[in-house]
Amino acid sequence: MYELTGVTKRYTRGKETVLALDGVDLTVPDGDRLVIQGPTGGGKSTLLQMLGGLDRPTSGEVVLDGTDMARLPEARLTRVRSENIGFVFQSFNLIPTLTAQENVETALVPLGIKAKDRRERAAEALKSVGLGERLGHLPGEMSGGQQQRVAIARALVKQPKVLLADEPTGNLDESTRDEIMDVLERMWKEHGLTFVMVTHDSTLAKKAPRLATIRKGRITVKDNPQA
Ligand SMILES: Nc1ncnc2c1ncn2[C@@H]1O[C@H](COP(=O)(O)OP(=O)(O)O)[C@@H](O)[C@H]1O
Ligand SMILES: [Mg+2]
Repeated sequence: MYELTGVTKRYTRGKETVLALDGVDLTVPDGDRLVIQGPTGGGKSTLLQMLGGLDRPTSGEVVLDGTDMARLPEARLTRVRSENIGFVFQSFNLIPTLTAQENVETALVPLGIKAKDRRERAAEALKSVGLGERLGHLPGEMSGGQQQRVAIARALVKQPKVLLADEPTGNLDESTRDEIMDVLERMWKEHGLTFVMVTHDSTLAKKAPRLATIRKGRITVKDNPQA
């Protein structure tokens, strides 16, 4: 479970400072599915980075299962991240020179898993997202939807507790978007994940039990009566 208190993030560019998050309080129970919406520049990606321990807040607490990630030494933060948190980004972020299987395996390297087991688990994860026939393909040889499936497999192969997705369908056409949303929903159910997603996709937002909106660094969370 996440417990965020007074999370503020200030970016400084030269003389200018931007208040990207302004005192965010947020609780995300285990197994929850939270959709985050809001205008561009509102602070959505910044919040996801805080939840993922990719960056630290300027002030405030980001407590995951009793540990304040904002204050963890770098090495321990890296470990929390590589064991517990899977990410899916809008731009897939695959390594272009590695095959699908090798891309997925990269998530297991920091966990000290043997090469043979890495290969098997990566193949299994790719099968579960419908890419069992594409293990040896490079990202450039796959469609956007297939690349995003590889990224989902990479996020989940380590069996994290948490899945964070930042506009995962933002670069995809409409029919592929629905496919990817279906895969994400199935993964959330099958893996019992705590799932936080930034999306403008209204179909999925309608189904989410809780909806958050971030504007100018401030968050409001509502239960979704349509879900
Ligand atoms: N690394 C950064 N350095 C400086 N400013 C940043 C950085 N990342 C984000 N910002 C600024 O913080 C604000 C929130 O950005 P972001 O979290 O990316 O919003 P969103 O994802 O909702 O579009 C914006 O004003 C953005 O320009
Ligand atoms: Mg963003």
